[in-house]
Amino acid sequence: MSSQTPRLDGQGKPLWVSLELTYRCPLKCSWCNNPLDFDDYGRRELTTGEWKKALEETRALGALQLGFTGGEPLLRDDLEELVAYADRLGFYTNLITSGIGLTEERLRALKAAGLKHVQLSLQAARAELTDALVGARAHELKMEAARLIKQHGFPMVLNVPVFKQNIAEADALIEWAAGLGIEYIEFANIQYYNWALMNRDELMPTLEELKAAEATVNRWRDKLGQAMTIYFVIPDYYEGRPKACMNGWGAIHLTLAPDGVPMPCQEARVIPGLEFHSLRDKPLAWIWNESPLFRKYRGLDWLPEPCASCGDKEKDFGGCRCQALLLTGDANATDPACSRSPHHAVVRAAVAEAARPLRFHKPLVKRSAQAVTTAFLA
Ligand code: FES
Repeated sequence: MSSQTPRLDGQGKPLWVSLELTYRCPLKCSWCNNPLDFDDYGRRELTTGEWKKALEETRALGALQLGFTGGEPLLRDDLEELVAYADRLGFYTNLITSGIGLTEERLRALKAAGLKHVQLSLQAARAELTDALVGARAHELKMEAARLIKQHGFPMVLNVPVFKQNIAEADALIEWAAGLGIEYIEFANIQYYNWALMNRDELMPTLEELKAAEATVNRWRDKLGQAMTIYFVIPDYYEGRPKACMNGWGAIHLTLAPDGVPMPCQEARVIPGLEFHSLRDKPLAWIWNESPLFRKYRGLDWLPEPCASCGDKEKDFGGCRCQALLLTGDANATDPACSRSPHHAVVRAAVAEAARPLRFHKPLVKRSAQAVTTAFLA
C-alpha cells in the first residue's frame, strides 16, 4: 500500500456518512460534542431539497452507510421524507437519536420509509439520574422509545456515553437491556471536545472506576454469551495509545454538517486555518477528492515525528487532529494521548486531576446557548 492513502478499504470512497441534520436538541448534555456555537446553525440548516441533493451526491461518491444524527434528528419534520429518499438511493439507513420525540407514529412512518437500524442513547437506569444528567425529564421517554424500537423489530444499538457520574450504572443498564432483548450495547467513552472538554475535570472517570466497569461488563459477557454484544474499551487517555480517529482523516468517513459543509470529522471546525466549503457552493466530489481540507491530513506523508518513524502509524494515523489542536494548540502535532508524544504530560495531568482526592468539584456546564456566553466571559 502507498504511504499516501490508507484505503481501509472504501477504495478511496466514504464508507460511512454522518448526516448532522440539525444541531438543535431538547437535551442539555454536558458531554455534547456539538459546536459551542450550535445555536448559530439554526438559520443555516439545509432545506429538504438541499439535503436530497446532498444525498444524491453522497451516493454518487459510492457511500452506502448513512447515519441520520444531530443534535436530535427527530426535530426535523422532514426526517421521514429524507429517510425514504436515502432508502430509494440504496443507502443502509441508521437513526442516531436520544429517543425524545420517537413516538410510535413516527417509528411506524420511519419503518415505512425504509429505516433499517436505530441507535438510542441512554445514560442511566434510574430516572432521577438520567434526567439530572441530560437536563430534562427524558428517562421515561427513552425507556418507552427502547420498548417501541424492539417492538417494531428494528436492529438496535443502545449507546451509553460513559463518564464519572454514570459509570456505576453499567450493571443495572445491562440487566435492563437484557430483559428487553437488546442485542448490542456500546459503552462509549466520551470524547473530550467542545462541551465535554469544558467539563472534562468533572466527567473523566478514574482508571479504578473504568476497571470496575470493565469487570462488570466481562461478568455479563460470560453470563449472556451470544445473546448480547457489549462493547467496552479503556479510553485513549488511559491507554497511552491514541485512537485511530475516523480511521484516518479523509479515508472512509464523511460528516455533513447542518449547513451543508462536508468535514473529515465532526469536530474539524475547531482547527483554525482550514477552509470549509458548503455543498451550496461546491460539488461534493471535488470537496472529497480535491479540496485542501480533505487532503490536509489524508494518508501518512504529513505525519510529524515521532509518528513518521513509528511502527503503529498505519494503525492510528497519528491519532486525532482535533484532540491534538485542543490539547497542544497545534493540529499538526502527535495526539498527546500517545505516550510517545512530546505533549503527553497534558494528558497525564488531566488523568491526575480526575483522580485527585478532596479536590473542589465544579458544577457541570450544561449545553445551552446561554452557557456559551457564560463560559466565554468566565
Ligand atoms: Fe477531528 Fe478526531 S475528531 S480528527
